[in-house]
Amino acid sequence: MGRREEAAAGAAEAPGAGTPRTLLPGATIGVLGGGQLGRMMALSGSAMGYRFVALDPAQDAPCGQVTPQITAAYNDRDAARELAQRADVITYEFENVDAGVAALLTEESYVPQGSALLYTTQHRLREKAAIEAAGVPVAPYRKVGSLAELEAAAAELGLPCVLKTATGGYDGKGQAVIRRPEELAAAFRQVAPGAAAPAPQASGAAASPDSPGAAEAKDAAEARPHAPELVLEKFIAFQCEISVIAARSASGEVKSFPPAENIHVDNILHLSIVPARVPEEIQRRACELAEQIVSGMDAVGLLAVEMFVTEDGELFVNELAPRPHNSGHYTMDACVTSQFEQHVRAICNLPLGDTTLLTPVVMVNVLGQHLEGAIQAACSADEESNRLGVSPKLHIYGKTESKTGRKMGHINLLCKDTGDGLAWVEQTNLWRN
Ligand SMILES: Nc1ncnc2c1ncn2[C@@H]1O[C@H](COP(=O)(O)OP(=O)(O)O)[C@@H](O)[C@H]1O
Ligand SMILES: [Mg+2]
Repeated sequence: MGRREEAAAGAAEAPGAGTPRTLLPGATIGVLGGGQLGRMMALSGSAMGYRFVALDPAQDAPCGQVTPQITAAYNDRDAARELAQRADVITYEFENVDAGVAALLTEESYVPQGSALLYTTQHRLREKAAIEAAGVPVAPYRKVGSLAELEAAAAELGLPCVLKTATGGYDGKGQAVIRRPEELAAAFRQVAPGAAAPAPQASGAAASPDSPGAAEAKDAAEARPHAPELVLEKFIAFQCEISVIAARSASGEVKSFPPAENIHVDNILHLSIVPARVPEEIQRRACELAEQIVSGMDAVGLLAVEMFVTEDGELFVNELAPRPHNSGHYTMDACVTSQFEQHVRAICNLPLGDTTLLTPVVMVNVLGQHLEGAIQAACSADEESNRLGVSPKLHIYGKTESKTGRKMGHINLLCKDTGDGLAWVEQTNLWRN
């Protein structure tokens, strides 16, 4: 039996997450989501001989430019069923997969990552509980469902704190830093706007311009029959933020990539610096913690683990992402194995690849406002990179519309010392706006 038939025959035998199954090159990987992560996964997996099919609502999505695409909404059951039929194994590039679709895919196809990992990482409180259950520290936190609970939680934890929605936040959206007690009510209104609406007035008092009228308040209350689910976290005065991408294969092999030091601007990742500028002992510990979490959760595939490093070298895990992560893009040019190849290996149950770092690297994100200049800089004769000994590797995602703040690509700056990569970013002058 040829490799492809072997892979396909395996696919017919055991549906669901069940027993680990090895899928050899020639098998088809179905990806829920057709953005840049799916695209880079498909480019990397295609090089190994896998086939891909992506599901995405946007015509000509980044992944659809390099692989066949089913164009439909993410929660379209028929489209999900088609994806299941066309693929031998299913993965996803984002964690907010509709629960019904996740269940359908698990039933009708092979989803080695299962749906429990999604269920956990879609919700900050469940996620923190899972991290703690793996024996790994998170910032002190409290569950919050009302302004009164927020006040009580803030009194217990002490300010400053960060209030976050339990679900749906990204790039700093759905959260507010609270430094003084007077800011509690405003933060609650900002993070849980519907829940903060005042109870409908019986008569008289006019609604303030920014509070809904009685009918709207009722609509809002009906649309949100439950208390909002929020989490209040102690603000960690971190020395820096790092992340570790760990992988676990379907049969339980675990490996992690070297930690990246991450610098955010306006809550969007700007730079990843590798090696991270923290002592080696902390880097080792960070990898251990990430591996502990990925094992403790029985996760399959990649798990990105974001952490805070305090002045005295303590580590707190901030959040998880069960997929390739922006802070792991540096691996594409700087490690023996890229995070995308590693994800494919993990879900297809191949031995995991070597994660050794081959060279220091600085990854800089290219947002909409940087796109033209970054292409210019990376594609023209560049004396600065020669002088600094920096090799810029350009990755552009093929998004049809460029917008301010939208991730359009990234550049991996391979260098002898990360200081030289950082100097290149400074000198190209593109990232100042
Ligand atoms: N408890 C905290 N203490 C200090 N800074 C925090 C805390 N929580 C979040 N932040 C800051 O806000 C950023 C975004 O928060 P995060 O929880 O990672 O949400 P997102 O889903 O938007 O990435 C973090 O990268 C960090 O810089
Ligand atoms: Mg984050």
